Amino acid sequence: MAAPSDCPIVTIDGPSGSGKGTISRAVAQKVGWHLLDSGALYRLVAFAGARAGLAPEDTQGHARLATAMDVRFGADAAGSERVLLDGQDVGREIRTETAGQGASRVAAWPEVRAALLRRQRAFATAPGLVADGRDMGTVVFPHALLKIFLTAAPEERALRRHKQLKDKGSDVSLAGLSREIAERDLRDETRQVAPLKAASDACVIDSTGLGVGAVVQRVLELGAARRLWP
Ligand code: DC
Repeated sequence: MAAPSDCPIVTIDGPSGSGKGTISRAVAQKVGWHLLDSGALYRLVAFAGARAGLAPEDTQGHARLATAMDVRFGADAAGSERVLLDGQDVGREIRTETAGQGASRVAAWPEVRAALLRRQRAFATAPGLVADGRDMGTVVFPHALLKIFLTAAPEERALRRHKQLKDKGSDVSLAGLSREIAERDLRDETRQVAPLKAASDACVIDSTGLGVGAVVQRVLELGAARRLWP
């Protein structure tokens, strides 16, 4: 288990389309903390593996990439997300549902998870970290001061993800997307290592029917109650 760090950490875990990414970004911005989008790291491993021509079942090759890949997160002048892999912006390529499926497959391998552990923990620096993923509260940051498990009804999650992908210019069918999300969640929940689940000390927030502002407010209240911020 990781040693407790001086840096305060809030973890936000949950299934695909639960709004973790949006909520984590908004909370991090509000309180001025760093953000870890751990899903992007798994997406990058799968993407880098395909680009390097690795066989899909080459666990060791993917684990080596997870350790060696040069990754930088940032934003362009307009504030849009940039994800640099070996200096090249791959932000668009890794956000497709196909890239999400690839990420979910490599994420089931213990070698890849172990290789990403140190990289993820390195994000915990002052003044604080909001960490978004599947196992942030259970495995990567078990000593986090606030753990959120964010859920929403499956239909609403599929609709949210559909809108997100359409806004990014992807033409995907809602029915196909619902099937892919269900398949991805099942794989993430049933894998042997670090499966998607709420930590025993997590606060569960069901965001079905709630807007982004209401969920962010709830997280800010929970953090304030723990004196993480004013
Ligand atoms: O959050 P996301 O949709 O970008 O994540 C893509 C996949 O990566 C997800 O289906 C499972 C995997 N993942 C994981 O196993 N553990 C994490 N902490 C984050 C993501």
